Amino acid sequence: MPCIAVCPGSFDPLTNGHLDIIIRGAKIFDEIYVSVLNNSTKTPLFTVEERLRLIREVTKDIPNVKVDAFDGLLVDYAKRVNANSIIRGLRAVSDFEYEMQNASMNRVLDNDVETFFIMTNNQYSFLSSSIVKEVAKYGGDIHELVPPIVAKELKQKFAFRKK
Ligand code: PNS
Repeated sequence: MPCIAVCPGSFDPLTNGHLDIIIRGAKIFDEIYVSVLNNSTKTPLFTVEERLRLIREVTKDIPNVKVDAFDGLLVDYAKRVNANSIIRGLRAVSDFEYEMQNASMNRVLDNDVETFFIMTNNQYSFLSSSIVKEVAKYGGDIHELVPPIVAKELKQKFAFRKK
């Protein structure tokens, strides 16, 4: 039976920290679904379609990565795609409480789905989509923080907004 994992998130937008977790996860699991939460309560910078396109472009050379969107409960989605694992990146102790709460709730909801944490590479331990958007908004250099296509589209978003 193939070992299939879901790597869920908002990915608004994908950062080099996310990509690092996806690449490392893809070496461990047979197949990974990078799955964008379609969450109507947040106001994202990138639409779900834009986020999917960017992730697809950046991960196109990783054969065992699939890119998808979901809504509703993560464990229900995992069941639908035959995944028995969830991958999350852990950057720092500050992530731990939130991640433990989510992992515990997911276990209560479905004891067959296991959450695995991958420690973020030190060079990305400070990195988040929010901080990247903040820097990009004020014209800071983001080229080491996100894949080139994401940097380009972030710049376009904020250039457009200034007009
Ligand atoms: O990138 P994020 O925003 O930290 O990702 C959070 C995510 C998508 C993993 C989390 O919000 C989630 O799983 N949402 C789906 C709804 C759900 O299953 N909630 C109950 C357990 S957390």
